[in-house]
Amino acid sequence: MSANTIAANRQTDHLTGKDSVWLFGYGSLIYKADFPYIERRPASIAGWTRRFWQGSHDHRGTPEAPGRVVTIIAEAGAICHGMAYLVTPQVFEHLDHREKNGYLRLSSDILFDDGRSVPGLVYIASEDNTAFLGAASELDIARQIAQSSGPSGPNSDYLNHLAAALRELGKSDPHVFAIEQHLAELGKPGAQDAEGKR
Ligand code: BEZ
Repeated sequence: MSANTIAANRQTDHLTGKDSVWLFGYGSLIYKADFPYIERRPASIAGWTRRFWQGSHDHRGTPEAPGRVVTIIAEAGAICHGMAYLVTPQVFEHLDHREKNGYLRLSSDILFDDGRSVPGLVYIASEDNTAFLGAASELDIARQIAQSSGPSGPNSDYLNHLAAALRELGKSDPHVFAIEQHLAELGKPGAQDAEGKR
């Protein structure tokens, strides 16, 4: 599948006849809401886990040296915590463009902390998109993030903002926090030299 998903997202009927739609954010959407919203609530989706497995060619890296950003991967029993936004359909014109590097909209139930569940949408970069990088050790992911930067800034800022936003929500994510820890270690004086000698 082409990495540019704008046309595919436009062809769906996700927004037809709707005045407002719930959108679940699990990555930069948690801390960067650069769009108008009607309501915003901490939320989760079941059966999905967050992973730094998607390559970023246009935000946190370049086509020659992609960064790593999050997508969600199906996993039985998993819960992915994030933030839900109630938005108008017009907002998706902006988001489809912002997240065009491999992300498709998917319908999903969204669960609020009070136990209420609503139908909504989530952006997912599946393994058949050309920017997908897939699994790597958390140390190797941290090494790649440490070296990557793109038009939206250093890849490390993305990781650190996401980890801070999850802490602010009071949610743990062992994958994100392990990468954050490795990245902090790599940033210590002499760490890169020691890395090179291994
Ligand atoms: C998110 O925060 O849910 C998200 C952000 C960028 C691309 C896809 C999803």
